[in-house]
Amino acid sequence: MERSPLKNQPWRGVVRQLRPSDLPRFREHLLRLDAESRHDRFNGVTNDAYLSAYAERCFHDGTTVIGYVEDDKVLGAAELHERPDLPEPTGEIAFSVEREIQHRGIGSALFERLIMNARGLGYEKLRVTTHPGNLAMKALARKFDAHLSFENLETVGEIDLGKPAVPELRPRRSGPVRASHW
Ligand SMILES: CC(C)(COP(=O)(O)OP(=O)(O)OC[C@H]1O[C@@H](n2cnc3c(N)ncnc32)[C@H](O)[C@@H]1OP(=O)(O)O)[C@@H](O)C(=O)NCCC(=O)NCCS
Repeated sequence: MERSPLKNQPWRGVVRQLRPSDLPRFREHLLRLDAESRHDRFNGVTNDAYLSAYAERCFHDGTTVIGYVEDDKVLGAAELHERPDLPEPTGEIAFSVEREIQHRGIGSALFERLIMNARGLGYEKLRVTTHPGNLAMKALARKFDAHLSFENLETVGEIDLGKPAVPELRPRRSGPVRASHW
């Protein structure tokens, strides 16, 4: 793979959850993906109409989208889609980082933030699916301890998040709180 000339430069952007008003920025990001990244991300489907409709759907079906935002543009995104058909609370995740800024740790930062959101939503498992030749996605998934297997001609990565932590609740003290003496 060709290394980005920006590889060692610090980022100027932020990683944050996208707001409803970010839909046009997310759509523009998907439309800027080059042919190979589109193919890797969408397993072959690459036309603009499909990507525009896809962006729209994500913002209307409750998908969580985390973005890497620089100069008011979304240049990378991580999506968390619910898989209510699976027995455990499971999220299907997907990533896209524009080619000029790939290999600079942005995919990893999006992944970290996505895991945080997934835990907050009570997911116990994350799944990522890609084609077996997608070395970048496989490396990224392994970095986050995904167990990789081969299913229906695809590589499936599964990450176990465990059960949501139960907060330690303390009974509230009744009666007046006495000032402590120093
Ligand atoms: C997959 C993708 C999101 C990775 O994003 P990224 O910003 O380049 O990822 P990072 O820079 O955080 O790299 C993550 C790890 O993968 C490794 N990696 C990245 N590209 C690689 C490649 N082509 N081959 C092997 N390893 C690679 C990195 O070395 C890094 O590991 P390290 O931190 O131990 O060095 C990005 O390549 C992309 O958007 N590809 C097109 C869309 C796609 O394939 N999506 C996945 C399907 S859902």
